[in-house]
Amino acid sequence: MARKIQFVETVLRDANQSLIATRLPFEKFEPMLETIDKAGYYAAECWGGATFDVCLRYLNEDPWERLRKIRAKMPNTKLQMLLRGQNVLGYSHYPDDFVKLFVTKAVENGIDVIRIFDALNDVKNMKVAMEATVNAGAIASGTISYTASPVHTLDKYVAMVKELKEMGASTICIKDMSGIIGPQEIYDLVSAIKDSTDLPIDLHTHCTTGLAYPVYMKAVEAGVDIIDTAISPFSGGTSQPATETMVFALRQLGYQVDLDDSCTKKMADYFKTVRDEYIADGTLIPKALATDTQCLTYQVPGGMLSNLMTQLKQMDALDRLEEVLAETPKVREDMGYPPLVTPTSQMVGVQAVNNVLAGERYKRVSKEIKAYCRGEYGTTPAPINAEVQAKILGDEKPITTRFADSLEPVVDATREKLQGLAKSDEDVLSYIAFPNLAEKFMEDRKAKEENICTYSIVEA
Ligand code: CO
Repeated sequence: MARKIQFVETVLRDANQSLIATRLPFEKFEPMLETIDKAGYYAAECWGGATFDVCLRYLNEDPWERLRKIRAKMPNTKLQMLLRGQNVLGYSHYPDDFVKLFVTKAVENGIDVIRIFDALNDVKNMKVAMEATVNAGAIASGTISYTASPVHTLDKYVAMVKELKEMGASTICIKDMSGIIGPQEIYDLVSAIKDSTDLPIDLHTHCTTGLAYPVYMKAVEAGVDIIDTAISPFSGGTSQPATETMVFALRQLGYQVDLDDSCTKKMADYFKTVRDEYIADGTLIPKALATDTQCLTYQVPGGMLSNLMTQLKQMDALDRLEEVLAETPKVREDMGYPPLVTPTSQMVGVQAVNNVLAGERYKRVSKEIKAYCRGEYGTTPAPINAEVQAKILGDEKPITTRFADSLEPVVDATREKLQGLAKSDEDVLSYIAFPNLAEKFMEDRKAKEENICTYSIVEA
């Protein structure tokens, strides 16, 4: 019998995060939710990653309400979110009580699958989120942040999969956020994992370097069960391979794919008009849709590349992009070869920008990079360059324990503090994750309800 390959649709999260910096408001995708629900996907990735931040920061949406609205229109499809382990949806580590409550509430509000990763592949930063997911009755997808470096071997990845299984993972995701994995590498990696576990494997990659299509074909050959794709108008470039293209190719090769073509056609027709609006207003820049083989050297993930370009454009320094991209792998090597994924991708990217624009390496250092050098993000794959670490830390000694163990619980105290403003635990969680954004959101909401006329001050 033909082997069945399942699909995760990414247009609601990663595809638009990668191409248009997550600027897709609820109303823009709402008309398609019932169609996506009927199409027969394994799951729809629709929450987490940057969506939470962007909802509050730019779209004036309550991310929790967005999730409930999606859930209401999609009763039949598993809703998936991306969670940065102990970082949850933010950029630094949180206390365990916050991580547990966040996961519980995400599941209560409609999430079925939580894809959990750690930017350093340090499983001690994933454990609390994994266990909370299992306890809440959702599917914990233990995730490998794929990267290539002299210290990342197949044996290490297989050992990590075993640890994730022990923590309760019921699927394994290989997350190639940079689109840098090659067809032979994925074949070997999937084969090695399949040899060591019977858990289903999901593959996530980006088209950035153009390798994604042959990579999916070889991954399927090696036994991958689920692939992440984006409906064609939001596919390619820094986004995922096109759903319809993969359906066509896999069926031709004799695999069973249960997606409904009339649904994907309807989605494609609709999202084509949405995409064209973003091209017209300049949000979707042509470079984000192009194939860039330089990423094979620079290992820059899709989202990071479009963010870097946007940042440099705003600073009127887009002409320094090549220098920044050349500096990025050097910073990464100094930092002990972290995979480039949120938040390490931003940290390394910003540091590369600083190193180039300041004219001296590590003259300007972000507080995140300082914390990283102190060991607050976890154990790095290889030791941090000692000279750089000394320049950044001075006499300070780095820690070797799990950083979250040193953090005091925050939930109860925040509940107390937000009395009268927060209406629910969800509000409290938003506030802990993004205090300024959530406070402003709640105050605006309150003012609206009390019918007070306010004007908002733009945050610097
Ligand atoms: Co991605």
